[in-house]
Amino acid sequence: MKILVINGPNINMLGVREPEIYGKLSLEKIENELVEYSKQFNGVEVEFFQSNIEGEIVNKIQSSIGKINGIIINPAAYTHTSVAILDAIKAVQIPTVEVHLSNVSAREDFRKVSYISPACVGTVAGFKQDSYKMALFGLYNYLNE
Ligand code: DQA
Repeated sequence: MKILVINGPNINMLGVREPEIYGKLSLEKIENELVEYSKQFNGVEVEFFQSNIEGEIVNKIQSSIGKINGIIINPAAYTHTSVAILDAIKAVQIPTVEVHLSNVSAREDFRKVSYISPACVGTVAGFKQDSYKMALFGLYNYLNE
C-alpha cells in the first residue's frame, strides 16, 4: 500500500516558522517520525512531496493515478483558496485525508474555511506532528475496510 504525503507552501519552513503554532520540529524530522510510525502497518510505504507552488501540487496529485493508494495532504495556505487542488483530488479519486498541524477551526475566520475538505474522507487538525500519524492510522484502516 503506497501512501503519498503532500505538504504545501511554507511547510518547508517548519522548525523556524511560528513554532508556538506549528511546533518545533523540521519537516524532515516529521517525515522521519512518520516513516518510523508507518512500520507498524503491514506493507505500507510512505512517499513525500513538498512544494510552495500550487500547480506542482496539482501535477503531483494527477501523476498519482495508478501508483498511489492513499494521499495525506497538508495544503497549508492553499487550504483556504485552492479550487485547483480540490478539483485534482476529485479527478484522481484517490482516498485523501486533509491534515493540519494547528487547530485551524480555533484560529482566524479565513482559516475556518477549507476548499479541500469536500474531496477528503476526513480531516485531522491541531495535533502538530501527530496529526500526520493520526491521518495515516485512519487512512490505513479506511483503505483496508
Ligand atoms: C496549516 C494551517 C494553514 O492555515 C496555514 O496557512 C499553514 C499551515 C497547518 O498545518 O496548521 O500554512 O495548514
